[in-house]
Amino acid sequence: MDMISMRDLDKKTIETIFERAENIEKFGYKERKGIITTAFFETSTRTKLSFQSAAKHMGMKVIDFVPETSSLVKGESFSDTIRMLDNYADAIIIRHPKDGSARLAAKLAKHPVINGGDGANEHPTQALIDIYTIKKEKGKITGLNISLFGDLGHARTMHSLLYGLAMSDVNLTLISPKGLEPNAEIIDEIKKEFKTEIVQKYEPDFTDADVIYVVRVQEERFADKYEAKKIKEQFKLELSDLKKAKSNVIVLHPLPKIDEISAEVDKSKHAKYFEQAANAVPVRIAILEYCMGME
Ligand code: NCD
Repeated sequence: MDMISMRDLDKKTIETIFERAENIEKFGYKERKGIITTAFFETSTRTKLSFQSAAKHMGMKVIDFVPETSSLVKGESFSDTIRMLDNYADAIIIRHPKDGSARLAAKLAKHPVINGGDGANEHPTQALIDIYTIKKEKGKITGLNISLFGDLGHARTMHSLLYGLAMSDVNLTLISPKGLEPNAEIIDEIKKEFKTEIVQKYEPDFTDADVIYVVRVQEERFADKYEAKKIKEQFKLELSDLKKAKSNVIVLHPLPKIDEISAEVDKSKHAKYFEQAANAVPVRIAILEYCMGME
């Protein structure tokens, strides 16, 4: 089973993955056999290492594909590279700067392909970790007010998360600079499909929020770097913003955070992004088990 887009998952599948992750946290993991390969054509810390850690905890073996020292340098095609990885591993975890590349890899490979982020398109396993963290911290998800804050236009985590949250019956507030709203097609799609209530704002205002989900300004995806810098200065979460919010509001971030959250917030009870990053291991064990068809 591949995992390329949140659209490939239904509510029941998500619940099954969460149940597995909860059991893994409570009772530990089962020993599994197999080899996974991490094929990251773009930088990564958490996604790559937490998948590797997940696989190793399960007793599986990991082979890491390093583009810079591979035959890609000699001009070998992406397609042939994927065919080779498919020969040597039982599952491929891929990250690539081009939208749609994970779907293409899944078409070429016989083994499961898991999307660890394709361009500005999707990052479904991150969305699962995010929603799992909200449930764990808040004890529920349905009916929560969730504010998404920052560069909502370029962040792939946002696209997968929007779809996953809409499936979970939450109320959404989108707070972004003008022109960096999420893709209008996604908004129309989730409004139509899930009747999600969505409010759009252009200034920080977190009065009703139960959860604030921050994303960084994705400077590498801006044609005009000066524009990115300007926005970075305006869209920051300060401790003073949280003082005006609900006392039990939590702050999440897929990380890496650069300077969009002040250091004071890190030390506050609201910050849950390091716990969120730790949840990556049990959730990704559950994802590997699900995609690799393990009972
Ligand atoms: C994100 C990514 O690479 O999409 N990081 C992650 O996987 N946790 C977020 C980002 O780069 O802003």
